[in-house]
Amino acid sequence: RGLQFGAAVNHTLFDPNEPDYARTLNRHFNAVVAENAMKWAGLHNNREAFAFGFADAIVDTAVKNGQTVRGHTLVWHDSLPPWVYTIQTREELLRAMQDHVTGVVTHFRGRVHIWDVVNEAISDAPGHPLRPSPFLNLIGPDFIDEAFRATHAADPGAKLYYNDYNTDGLNGKSDAVYELVRGMLARGVPIHGVGFQAHLNTDFDVKGAQVQANLQRFRDLGLDVQMTDVQMTEVNVQLRPARPEADELARQAAVYRDLLRTCLNVQCAGFVTWGVTDFNSWRAGGRPLIFDDMYDPKPAFAAVAQELAR
Ligand code: G3I
Repeated sequence: RGLQFGAAVNHTLFDPNEPDYARTLNRHFNAVVAENAMKWAGLHNNREAFAFGFADAIVDTAVKNGQTVRGHTLVWHDSLPPWVYTIQTREELLRAMQDHVTGVVTHFRGRVHIWDVVNEAISDAPGHPLRPSPFLNLIGPDFIDEAFRATHAADPGAKLYYNDYNTDGLNGKSDAVYELVRGMLARGVPIHGVGFQAHLNTDFDVKGAQVQANLQRFRDLGLDVQMTDVQMTEVNVQLRPARPEADELARQAAVYRDLLRTCLNVQCAGFVTWGVTDFNSWRAGGRPLIFDDMYDPKPAFAAVAQELAR
């Protein structure tokens, strides 16, 4: 189907006691995202030197296995090292951000072809203004354009994404992302795609939320230049507690199926689950993924496989 079907990975990938993790990843997924290893604090905790070792191991393993890698994420308000908060002027933070982006993107050039350049810059507050962060507060709203420009300069061949959550359907927050991206395209900022995280639960109604209409309006956005790419980037569907397990697993499967179908309907570039297997998911209690604690496929796996085979 021409789809990148990916998973976020963490330290478990290299745990000799968990060989099924790599086995499951390599058998079923053709794309990989580092769950945390490429975040600013993961790569650049020490201002004077990058620490690429763990991220390199993830990327090299993926490349060896013929998997593509999404880079996640260059500029985010979360997971920043303490030194970033000590900076006090626009000029210094702008330079630090550009240096970070340039160092990371240059290092992975040729191995990472897609970057989440700016992550979650829009807030959940009424009207969805830009989210307060060191970048917004000190640099101003143009930190977003500047981050994309620096990434493009470091790797002109890479696809550059804006990525956010609670933006899967038509709603006020996805409207705000739409306006942001429209403005960027109008200003000639190099942006090629939008990631929709899809942190969901079994009550989510893909049709009711109008996910397809939402994805399609982003696909149509860059039309005069090129189609804007879209991906579902952090998919997970939590079970709701205190409900019959079989019902919940079936509802979970239906949400995965509906979401993947919608993604395929708009020719999305990727569908990435936020983890490989339930037990070490960031929301392990909600058992939100398509493989269970024993790496056995769940009803959601069957639904996904069936959808891909249609
Ligand atoms: O690895 C350390 C461990 O050594 C230490 O003992 C422990 C004590 O707190 O922390 C561990 O690091 C944690 C790391 O996850 C690994 O488990 C961090 O504190 C914790 O903040 C980090 O959380 C991650 C979170 O982003 C913040 O970076 C989650 O794993 C990760 O799933 C989550 O992912 C985000 C996406 O990047 C963006 N969209 C939302 C999504 C969910 O929040």
